Amino acid sequence: MTSAHLFDDPAAGLQPATDAAQLREAALRVAPRFAPALVRWQRSHGRNGLPWQTPGDPYRVWLSEVMLQQTQVATVLGYYARFLERFPDVRALAAAPLDDVLTAWAGLGYYSRARNLHRCAQAVVELHGGRFPGSAAELAQLPGIGPSTAAAIAGFCFNERAAILDGNVKRVLSRVFAFGGDLADKRNERALWQAATELLPDDVTQMPAYTQGVMDLGASLCALRKPVCAACPVESLCQARKLGTPAQFPLKTRRAARSRRENWWLWLERPEAGIWLEQRPATGVWAGLWTLPLYDSEQALVDDLARHANDGAAQIESLPAVEHALTHFQWTLHPRRLRLGQAAPACAEPAPNGRWVARGELSAYALPAPLRKLLG
Ligand code: ADE
Repeated sequence: MTSAHLFDDPAAGLQPATDAAQLREAALRVAPRFAPALVRWQRSHGRNGLPWQTPGDPYRVWLSEVMLQQTQVATVLGYYARFLERFPDVRALAAAPLDDVLTAWAGLGYYSRARNLHRCAQAVVELHGGRFPGSAAELAQLPGIGPSTAAAIAGFCFNERAAILDGNVKRVLSRVFAFGGDLADKRNERALWQAATELLPDDVTQMPAYTQGVMDLGASLCALRKPVCAACPVESLCQARKLGTPAQFPLKTRRAARSRRENWWLWLERPEAGIWLEQRPATGVWAGLWTLPLYDSEQALVDDLARHANDGAAQIESLPAVEHALTHFQWTLHPRRLRLGQAAPACAEPAPNGRWVARGELSAYALPAPLRKLLG
């Protein structure tokens, strides 16, 4: 390589960054080229024309960002349109009963997002007169809005120079800088966030395209396993590409082993009435969702059957266990199915929080994702 090439190549001579000072220096060196290349690429190759990409409406942008946190764009599109029809603005959402919100959310999973959405709408009405506050710092004070979501809303709606750092963006940037720090360590995360801030475009009108661009890059070319570096708009700036090891970034962190939990699930079905569902309490796992009755042991399930049928135990069908990973534990659920006859007696002691739900009505209930899958 000639010295002229070296001079032209902003990635030349850079080493993997291992601390905040090196990250900052690396960010300052690539910054003049990073945002322009990304913005140009976003406009021609990124995702444009999505229904929430309407400038200036924080309600729509906020809703889309929360829905998109753990769900693909293709899935979100249908939910988003129906949700907006049902709750056209933040006041309508704040005034709605929580159960209606959970029902509109049914199927998107991670219901804490829906509960926070509702709480956030109420906070916007009560604390801000029904208008979303206009800065990332204030947005991040609202329920369910983390710093990255706050920055996305502020970047999209108010052209604020605020950096996002969700999982995809962490991957993009830790590769650009070949950053070898463990991002589970808050100091390393802060350092990467600081570097992300250095990369933002000077021209604030480019903030929406830039913010979308860094997300789009992480969701497409800068894939977890097989990044398509040859097509990447910032290939020449990427230190991990230069090292030839992009898939090694970000550093994998060791997680503490999750604890395990085991429960038995009673699936009662009657031809006329449908499936027996019970609503979970307002706090704890699956708060407020509808589920089959849960038991700590198979015996407890059998003992409780008398509530619904006096001849049932003999016909119980054992279905394969369902494995469900939650943040704090690994849950094994053993479904036990009992089809009751036409003439089955009504419940001896109906639980106040339970009801028979016809199969055709299930879509109107907020069910945990593994249960929706089980019931088919
Ligand atoms: N994921 C989170 N926010 C997104 C957005 N605005 N577009 C596409 N995917 C996203």
